[in-house]
Amino acid sequence: MTKGTQLYEGKAKKVFATEDPQLLIVSYKDDATAFNGLKKGTIAGKGVINNKMSNALMRLLEKKGIPTHFVEQLSDRDTLVKKVQIVPLEVIIRNIAAGSFAKHYGVEEGTDLACPTIEFSYKNDALADPLINEYHVMALQLATKEEVETIKTLAFKVNEELKKFWASCGVTLVDFKLEFGRLSDGTIVLADEISPDTCRLWDSKTNEKLDKDRFRRDLGGVEDAYHEIMKRLEEHIAEA
Ligand code: TMP
Ligand code: ASP
Repeated sequence: MTKGTQLYEGKAKKVFATEDPQLLIVSYKDDATAFNGLKKGTIAGKGVINNKMSNALMRLLEKKGIPTHFVEQLSDRDTLVKKVQIVPLEVIIRNIAAGSFAKHYGVEEGTDLACPTIEFSYKNDALADPLINEYHVMALQLATKEEVETIKTLAFKVNEELKKFWASCGVTLVDFKLEFGRLSDGTIVLADEISPDTCRLWDSKTNEKLDKDRFRRDLGGVEDAYHEIMKRLEEHIAEA
């Protein structure tokens, strides 16, 4: 499968057409942004790590019965995926208070939540991805009631599988963001990426941050953190 026309360039990835109208190639960049693109930078080698990590985790989730867009890794940065129509929602699951949740609700970062939470943001850069509830989603026709139910069920299942896997690596899955898409027959599948850009991952013993918060918060050691979390994944993925 070869890269055809570039269809889209996002903040962290480019998307290309292929000979097959049902398949696309995504190409991961080293570019990093935060705060709706206000902060810009590069993280050397990030594209390779995010590509390989996302693919490894999607393969794992497929094995556990969760449908994804993943087809085949083509190279260090390029992956063949099923073409989907993205549901314009950022689906955020949290196990531990951090980031915007800690700030909104006045909870100290690192506090265990009594149960996992789910929230939706409307994917819209011009509006800075505002929080949105299920009724808003249906009223704006971003997804149907059935699709919202499917997305919630899949997102919590993803959480259970990823929590288990990262625990085996000595890593706490604090929170993460997922995106879902519709195949041409309407089936909802997990899309986009699962990487240190889209998850908060803390060392289980020290709570050291091994994710993009090192870039967002100018903590230093960004590249080292991406390499460390990838190394942990590679050491444990075969047994998962
Ligand atoms: P938040 O605490 O800033 O709302 O972030 C929750 C999770 O979602 C965290 O793991 C980072 C991830 N995330 C993204 O992947 N993309 C985004 O644009 C934002 C704001 C968060
Ligand atoms: N990717 C997001 C942006 O630049 C933000 C983030 O990941 O924090 O807007």
